[in-house]
Amino acid sequence: MSAAKGSPVRLSRAAQAAVPSGTLAIDEEYRARKARGEDVISLGAGQPDFPSPEAALAGGREAIDTGRTRYTDVAGTEELRATIARKLKEENGLAVTPQQVVVTAGAKQAIELALRALVDPGDGVLVPVPAWPSYGQMVRLLGGTVIPVPIHAADGWKLKVDALLKAIAGAGRRADVLILNQPSNPTGATYTVDDLARIAEAVRGEELTVISDEIYERLVYDAPFTSFATLPGMRGRTITVNGFSKAFAMTGWRMGYAAGPAPVTAAIGTLLGHTSGNASSVAQHAALRALESVLDGGEGAATLESMRAAFKDRRDLVCRLLDAIPGVTYARPGGAFYVFVDVSAHYGRPLAGGRVTHDSLSLAAYLLEDAGVAVVPGRAFGDDRCIRISFAASAEDLTVALKRIAKALA
Ligand SMILES: Cc1ncc(COP(=O)(O)O)c(C=O)c1O
Repeated sequence: MSAAKGSPVRLSRAAQAAVPSGTLAIDEEYRARKARGEDVISLGAGQPDFPSPEAALAGGREAIDTGRTRYTDVAGTEELRATIARKLKEENGLAVTPQQVVVTAGAKQAIELALRALVDPGDGVLVPVPAWPSYGQMVRLLGGTVIPVPIHAADGWKLKVDALLKAIAGAGRRADVLILNQPSNPTGATYTVDDLARIAEAVRGEELTVISDEIYERLVYDAPFTSFATLPGMRGRTITVNGFSKAFAMTGWRMGYAAGPAPVTAAIGTLLGHTSGNASSVAQHAALRALESVLDGGEGAATLESMRAAFKDRRDLVCRLLDAIPGVTYARPGGAFYVFVDVSAHYGRPLAGGRVTHDSLSLAAYLLEDAGVAVVPGRAFGDDRCIRISFAASAEDLTVALKRIAKALA
């Protein structure tokens, strides 16, 4: 432990080493400008701008009205776990028992507990980079070592087997776990069955355990989604993580889950029992009703499809507008609601507002100041050449914001 500045409290080494989200500074500045009444648009959102499906809202109300306000089983209600197992079977072709499902407070908790169940201090965790920032933070908080695997726009930001094997060979330590995220935040990369089969073959050869973060599963625009655990030999070594935040527009309810080999899900359940306990009983019932509605082809199914269709239109719109901006390049995202745009051609040259930028932080700061548009600097995800643009915003806002960015980069 060591003393915190100006305080008698002593913070742990882990607390001191943890860094807040790299998106915070821009976000704070955006909020301050918004509060001052300035005309600013945020393309930084990591969540849908839609309300939760009616089935979820009704489920939440029903839970309160019928007294579902007590502890549930730590791993989630029997009904919800059974319905998630049904979903995995019917939609993904993945056979798991309800006992192999653990319900958590968001996918984030499922990933953290899966890592906690698998990673000892010093263990190596392979993370394709650029990546969602929390993976690396979580691994480090557990004393694990991140083994970054570089991925590239030229490959559609997909993990390539040769890069994976090179990272393992060069790591100087055993690689134990691979985190796979598809569709990806921040790149929107999606994988074909053949892409996944090649990765699965490498995983078998290296005896890795895989955490497959499939939180953006339903938000795919060009090709069907394949769950990694359904690849030959992968079911016994893959923890599938999913949830309700993104495609169900239920971020605030905090509903996620992990499904996988029984020893791992049992360990996750035990860890959950000693930390937060069960996820909210009300939120579980809301998620149950929303998922039932989707599986039964009710309102939930139609609502989710209309949100997906809106995101697809916005993806097409953003790509069209980006194509008109000189000096920016990107790989067209097949899923999620982000475009990861390489703006590095504009570093080091005077921009329209008279500023010279040097990296993703200074470019994002310039866009906010000059164009009134907040984006997320790529450095937060491990690639300083890029900025992340979220299209979880209205078509009007996207159109105005992209035109302003074009002007600022002229
Ligand atoms: C790749 C990825 N995984 C997991 C999560 C966590 O989602 P949840 O809200 O379910 O915790 C996010 C949210 O931003 C994400 O982008």
